[in-house]
Amino acid sequence: MNRLGIREIRLASGLVLLLFVLTHLTNHALGLVSIDAMERGLGWFKLIWRNPIATTLLYGAVLVHFLLGLYALYSRRTLRMPLRELAQITLGLVLPFLLVQHVAGTRITYALTGNEATYAGVIHNLWVTSPNAGLRQGLALLVVWLHGCLGVYFWLRHRPWFSQYSTLFYTVGLLVPLLALLGFAEAGKYLTAQGYEPPPRVEAALRGPIENALYLNLGGLIAATFAARLIRSYWIRSTQIEITYASGQVALVPQGFSVLEASRSANIPHVAVCGGRGRCSTCRVRVLKGLEDQPGPTPKERATLHRIKAADNVRLACQFRPVHALTVVPVLSAGRQRLLESQSRSARGREHVITVLFCDLRAFTALSERRLPFDIVFILNRYFDVVGHAVEETGGYVDKFIGDGALAIFGLEAAAQTAAKQAIAAAIRISEGVRDINRTYASELDRPLKLAMSLHTGPAIVGEMGYGPATHLTAVGDTINTASRLEGIAKDLDAELLISEEVTKAAKLTPTGLDLQSFSMRGRKAAIAAWIVRDTEGLARIFEDAAILA
Ligand code: FES
Repeated sequence: MNRLGIREIRLASGLVLLLFVLTHLTNHALGLVSIDAMERGLGWFKLIWRNPIATTLLYGAVLVHFLLGLYALYSRRTLRMPLRELAQITLGLVLPFLLVQHVAGTRITYALTGNEATYAGVIHNLWVTSPNAGLRQGLALLVVWLHGCLGVYFWLRHRPWFSQYSTLFYTVGLLVPLLALLGFAEAGKYLTAQGYEPPPRVEAALRGPIENALYLNLGGLIAATFAARLIRSYWIRSTQIEITYASGQVALVPQGFSVLEASRSANIPHVAVCGGRGRCSTCRVRVLKGLEDQPGPTPKERATLHRIKAADNVRLACQFRPVHALTVVPVLSAGRQRLLESQSRSARGREHVITVLFCDLRAFTALSERRLPFDIVFILNRYFDVVGHAVEETGGYVDKFIGDGALAIFGLEAAAQTAAKQAIAAAIRISEGVRDINRTYASELDRPLKLAMSLHTGPAIVGEMGYGPATHLTAVGDTINTASRLEGIAKDLDAELLISEEVTKAAKLTPTGLDLQSFSMRGRKAAIAAWIVRDTEGLARIFEDAAILA
């Protein structure tokens, strides 16, 4: 079973458990209505979770999730990790101990004796008879929920749409445990006021040995996991390999470390914009010596290397785990200053849905051949002025000017819908600005300046990239390449602007009177649909919404 498969199974089992917890806590929240509502809710809860299929699924998920969690803990190369991850693992290890009494007193007792626990009985016990157990149960509720929420966060945080729905997630994450605790407290107060007396329970003698056995087994498994880590680290320390960098630095690491982990363990600066997930390719290294008999790329690494058309001796440092000594040179150089800068949020890079605007002057090379350099610089600066102002005033960021072309990014801060509208508004402004230049300098120009622009929306890796003073915030990924190719198509079609359908979908705008055509592109399996704008003069009317932004 590969690592990805294990991760997916752990996630699936975690989602089953989270669903169980969600229904259980919702049942607690019914205490805000009445104890009867809680008991009726319990009837539904049992109907869902006490049939043979759900019982098998639930017990299977508990076992699989716990054991795979321990396996993940064992597999980690290092226990150094971000605080959030440490919190999730610690909560996961503490949780079973907090739940032992509750599970033994309800589900296991029922399975062994057929004695059914009622809400009134359990809450009376936790609220009146043994409040310490009640506090422990309240803590368990918070721990299980937080552990689940962190799991969902780690799973979804890099999805392009996550930031759009994050407020909803946080609201649900806060309300569910809050309402559950309030329901529990309300029911406890009600039972106290009513002088409720629970029926005597006969299974106390049975529970003691069950709880002890559970504590012992859980503790034993966790201790065995840490012991296995110790044995493994002793073993790998005795099988270290040497990674030499072209700069002369050497990292001595245990077999199984990736080249990126080796760089980090030896404090050698190494760019890794996507954080080692094999997606951005910025960590890639050229292997100068020792590539023979090394393990080949995993499917994920192969796909990324194929996407960037890497040479045979190039590997992703974050994915490549060498088995014997080798010499490498990182393709993107990272100086000490960069490493310090990489502590900043933007330098770490993040995946973000952005709208990209490419714009270029058509046939400018021909024009520049017939003018004095001074004239060319003057006209280009007027044009750059137009582009810069249009982008910045509509909320975008000018990434770079190359020759007579420009690349601008929208959505670094704004939501995807706003970003798409801002980009359309910027294209309209650029077009108007260039028409102004043409009118103002009509006598100087042999023929009017003509634009070729493109807009495309999609996920991209955004972060600080470059070297030394040439480092700046930029974006990389398929979205940028697609936008660039759309601009080339706009030139071929003699159109002023191509707007991919992704942009209008993100902007929730439907243009009228424009042609939507599909274009196939080299290196892309699926064709891309784009609206063809021959002339942007009427565009502000077509996109009235976007024009308001402009
Ligand atoms: S860090 Fe992004 S691919 Fe390796």
